[in-house]
Amino acid sequence: MNIRLARIEDLMGMQACNLQNLPENYTMKYYLYHALTWPGLSYVAEDHKGRIVGYILAKMEEDLGPDDDPHGHVTSISVLRSYRRLGLAKKLMVQSQEAMATIYRAKYVSLHVRKSNRAALGLYKDSLGFSVHDIEKKYYADGEDAYAMRLSLKP
Ligand code: ACO
Repeated sequence: MNIRLARIEDLMGMQACNLQNLPENYTMKYYLYHALTWPGLSYVAEDHKGRIVGYILAKMEEDLGPDDDPHGHVTSISVLRSYRRLGLAKKLMVQSQEAMATIYRAKYVSLHVRKSNRAALGLYKDSLGFSVHDIEKKYYADGEDAYAMRLSLKP
């Protein structure tokens, strides 16, 4: 399994992976916006035949308040079911976090996750060291609350 920077021609594969794995889906225009605006922040995991089995779609936060530090945001991450627990998501996260810090001087990375998402919470909290910054009530379309999580990035 190989982790590499996402290219424009990967976006369809990333979208297909997202559709299989998550109810939060995005238009191709939104994938393109990420890839063209922050070309260093999104990564894919591919199998030996070059098929995309996981992705991270990430950006820098744009709506900063006057006191906000520059920070990255993980829009979406997922790995196809049969490729889980191999360490791919952790590698995708670490690659993107490093790029946020080195390219854009991000001070921290943020994301939203469903309160009920045990696997993702295991990844963020236990494996990567994120902590819960806030709870956003009814954040998701079906009414579920989100944890807004953050992880400080080393300069
Ligand atoms: N239960 C508990 N902890 C878990 C689980 C699980 N099912 N899966 C991963 N972890 C934790 C463990 O600490 C694991 O380390 P370990 O295997 O040494 O114990 C660590 O995370 C790293 O696991 P990875 O193998 O890197 O994770 P994986 O590649 O399996 O992907 C992911 C995890 C992305 C959450 C996957 O389960 C998935 O695609 N789920 C469906 C989509 C999803 O929920 N995406 C996140 C939504 S939130 C967002 O996108 C911002």
